[in-house]
Amino acid sequence: MTAPQPLIAGNWKMNGLAASLDEAKAVAAGLEGTTARVAICPSATLIAQMAWALKGTPVLIGGQDCHAEASGAYTGDVAAEQLADAGASLVVLGHSERRAGHGETDALVAAKTRAALRAGLEPIVCVGETLEQRKAGEALAVVTAQVRGSLPPELADNAFSVAYEPVWAIGTGLTPTTPEIEEVHRTIRATLIELFGAAGEAVAILYGGSVKPSNAAEILHADEVGGALVGGASLKAADFLGIIRAV
Ligand code: 13P
Repeated sequence: MTAPQPLIAGNWKMNGLAASLDEAKAVAAGLEGTTARVAICPSATLIAQMAWALKGTPVLIGGQDCHAEASGAYTGDVAAEQLADAGASLVVLGHSERRAGHGETDALVAAKTRAALRAGLEPIVCVGETLEQRKAGEALAVVTAQVRGSLPPELADNAFSVAYEPVWAIGTGLTPTTPEIEEVHRTIRATLIELFGAAGEAVAILYGGSVKPSNAAEILHADEVGGALVGGASLKAADFLGIIRAV
């Protein structure tokens, strides 16, 4: 089974206004020669405008969350179908900021993942341990349980990625060592193969947490790292392109 094409996805989180589309356009303009798939996941308010602004470019657009239901009385929520309708082709699910701030469980993340598939979106499912869990020697067990609980069997015939984002590395400037990243990614790979058979080998396993141009090459060339999910450094085109070029 050939290695999956690397995916570099920028998670803008709750940042960005219409004026920020210029950064997205600058990313699209700087992609010549890159071998990676590149995605930007802005706030839902920007998806349609970004889809329009980046039309005809290779940059994919993703949502940051979706509801598990296709429609209904869920004030303030966004359905996967609505993300797709606005121009998204991917969606980040189970980010630790959703798990911690909105009480998202593995079961809910799995339900959202099913919703994404129904809408034709490619899920990027996030997992990762807290600092306390790492210090207690529980990182591999926590991540394995999250992968098992968050990935529904329906993913078997669909494109998706898993993002390993240690909670303590997000927005902190701290990153695990390369052997620590490889240990978790190899464990995720084994779990994917256990769940999906040979198809589990074709799933890109992204790393996320304080990825920047200066550490991207080492992280992206580590064993079983198939791309990156980038927060802060994806907000500036020059930094994001620096990471993309490190693939
Ligand atoms: P930072 O790159 O800002 O650490 O954020 C990582 C992240 O949470 C991406 O989803």
